[in-house]
Amino acid sequence: MALDRKPAPNDLDAFWMPFTANRQFKKAPRMFVAAKDMHYTTADGREVLDGTAGLWCCNAGHCRPKITEAIRKQAGELDYAPAFQMGHPIAFELANRLIDIAPEGMEHVFYTNSGSESVETALKIAIAYHRARGEGQRTRLIGRERGYHGVNFGGISVGGIVSNRKHFGTLLAGVDHLPHTHLPDQNAYTRGQPEHGANLADELERIVALHGAETIAAVIVEPMAGSTGVLLPPKGYLEKLRAITKKRGILLIFDEVITGFGRLGSAFAGQHFGVVPDMMTTAKGLTNGVIPMGAVMCSAEVHDAFMQGPEHMIELFHGYTYSGNPIASAAGIATLDTYKEEGLFERAAELAPYWEEALHSLKGTRHVIDIRNMGLIGAVELAPIAGEPTKRAFNAFLKAYEKGILIRTTGDIIAMSPPLIIEKPQIDQLIGTLKEVLETLE
Ligand SMILES: Cc1ncc(COP(=O)(O)O)c(C=O)c1O
Repeated sequence: MALDRKPAPNDLDAFWMPFTANRQFKKAPRMFVAAKDMHYTTADGREVLDGTAGLWCCNAGHCRPKITEAIRKQAGELDYAPAFQMGHPIAFELANRLIDIAPEGMEHVFYTNSGSESVETALKIAIAYHRARGEGQRTRLIGRERGYHGVNFGGISVGGIVSNRKHFGTLLAGVDHLPHTHLPDQNAYTRGQPEHGANLADELERIVALHGAETIAAVIVEPMAGSTGVLLPPKGYLEKLRAITKKRGILLIFDEVITGFGRLGSAFAGQHFGVVPDMMTTAKGLTNGVIPMGAVMCSAEVHDAFMQGPEHMIELFHGYTYSGNPIASAAGIATLDTYKEEGLFERAAELAPYWEEALHSLKGTRHVIDIRNMGLIGAVELAPIAGEPTKRAFNAFLKAYEKGILIRTTGDIIAMSPPLIIEKPQIDQLIGTLKEVLETLE
């Protein structure tokens, strides 16, 4: 590269940003330079109220002292230890702490570095589990329309968001999809779980009849679909999925990357809905979003199927250089301590009715066609601009940012998931500002 073309340190061109309209962003950048508790600080010195817990991950708020300190300390004590054939105590401690708060029946933890990797890991474990039990023909994976399971090939194959799939070739073979559960004609403006749609779980029987249960390894769903716009499971739906998968010898995987760590007012959605899967994928809130880390949890039955053969042999040919990284593990323990000491999962449950009231007060606001909520998560769906899908919500996002609140959009849906430390006046500010934004939006 010619010297005179060397980029300046603050040149925006080199960084190809993820899931971002790069050209639009680089013309009018939105930069955060600091964060504390419920707020971000922008490069031009404004405070922005975090209505999304970063990317659904900073459940305890920002720059929490215990987590910051644990990372600082760990970085000076044991920065890295090999993850294969070697261990260090904190990864084991964190695994036990996770099992402690996980739904009854989850007994083992496999570490990853992200939600996407947790998904790939769970899908691979599912297939290998059946093989280890002598049912190697069970290789099919069933996902759901409008599901989001990260961005790796397994995840986009079982996922059901068209734009995340259509650019990337043929994806994994042997995948089928349940229908999504979004029924706006019947369930619009429902508070909490909708009444209609449990029967959509019966579609699994249709898929089983089509392929044969003996070819299916696992069903993966988000117990509550977050990234696709907060789609709640109809009453009875998850229970049906659980019953059918059990009857057919199919593993049920809950992708709890968003719903984990208090978002719905329980540690995990499995507890909230009273339905326990065979495996769970987690990430995000595991370290309060501060250090990349994910974890797959599974039942003893799944884990024990691998524990056979000579003891010097590796049981599962899978893992990451950073699985159970010491600094991430320390951050995880400090995060779980913070959740516990501050009672944040209970706090989310206590605040949920106030959150619900505030969100539903937006009914009748300009452009709004549906509102959905549960725990401390909510979505406001807008009527799209004719011929320009996603633009109205994106414009709302830009305007909201100018007015000092961070929201997130997916399609023409505004999704909000504030840190669980949010105060009632901040809920009022978030919803009040959003109302102003929508009322003045084209
Ligand atoms: C349900 C679910 N699964 C997986 C992922 C992917 O996580 P990551 O971005 O950490 O890879 C996400 C991210 O939002 C998610 O919501």
